[in-house]
Amino acid sequence: MKPINVGLLGIGTVGGGTFEVLRRNEEEITRRAGRPIRISVIADKNVEHARSVAGDSVRITDDAFAVIADPDVDIVVELIGGYGVARELMLGAIANGKHVVTANKALLAMHGNEIFEAARRKGVMVAFEAAVAGGIPIIKALREGLSANRIEWFAGIINGTTNFILSEMRDKGLAFADVLLEAQMLGYAEADPTFDIEGVDAAHKATIMSAIAFGIPMQFGAAHVEGISNLQSIDIAYAGQLGYRIKLLGIARRRPEGVELRVHPTLIPKDRLLANVEGPMNAILVHGDAVGPTMYYGPGAGAEPTASAVIADLVDVTRLHTADPEHRVPHLAFQSDQVLDVKV
Ligand code: HSE
Repeated sequence: MKPINVGLLGIGTVGGGTFEVLRRNEEEITRRAGRPIRISVIADKNVEHARSVAGDSVRITDDAFAVIADPDVDIVVELIGGYGVARELMLGAIANGKHVVTANKALLAMHGNEIFEAARRKGVMVAFEAAVAGGIPIIKALREGLSANRIEWFAGIINGTTNFILSEMRDKGLAFADVLLEAQMLGYAEADPTFDIEGVDAAHKATIMSAIAFGIPMQFGAAHVEGISNLQSIDIAYAGQLGYRIKLLGIARRRPEGVELRVHPTLIPKDRLLANVEGPMNAILVHGDAVGPTMYYGPGAGAEPTASAVIADLVDVTRLHTADPEHRVPHLAFQSDQVLDVKV
């Protein structure tokens, strides 16, 4: 069967994982997608590195703009990150009629409204499971699994780096800076780890989840954002003595006047499930009016967990692309009557 061709932009940690898992699980992935998914071209500024990961069987270039214009590419996977050139590439790919799969939470939280509107006009899909909570299929859970529900609130540990730092500081008595360095070496942290430790990454993810959960536009600017950089080992120790663990939570709640969105360190009683989510793991509690409380747990960062989400989107987009375009469902549709207007 004719493969669907993917242009991969960026073969760093997640790109490398995506390449490897697609290769290793080719048979299962093809069966689920209905046709082979083939990385036909990779763009990376470090061509030598890309070659060392992908070998000689894939075309490699340092020109990402050529990839988004390539008539043979059906889906562009954007794993470059940031909001500069990545935004241009994503809008360019959409304008060229390509579907886009991305792990770029910062870009979606800041420019998602523009991007989803461009995709809607062009009739292409933008899929972003990998942008939130790594390998946990939380986007699918919110959008599809809970589609019968009015979501009341969610609260989650959605940054693996800070959860890893808090766990290691508590259990091993390690210093903040040392654990951060380890998180960077393990590939959990953002290129700019300030986004992790100041709560910005978690706020990007909470912004995206809010759009799906509550049908509101992306409004990152309305979120209250506070990270863990002011926490000291003594805070963690005192919390423990009082029967609590400190976790950085992303919280969104429906209020009569709008949706409240916030990220901050939170004291959680030790006997609660969320308090026992350790290391780079993520977990999100979601409360729907019909289902009640549900919880989603799994690795929130790292090469293959995030690749798992990227490839799930590739399978999803391949199936929808192959289906009747008239009946395609956009990956995100906002309701116009709800505005996030509560800043805590
Ligand atoms: N820096 C992010 C984290 C990576 O630590 O959760 C996954 O989004």
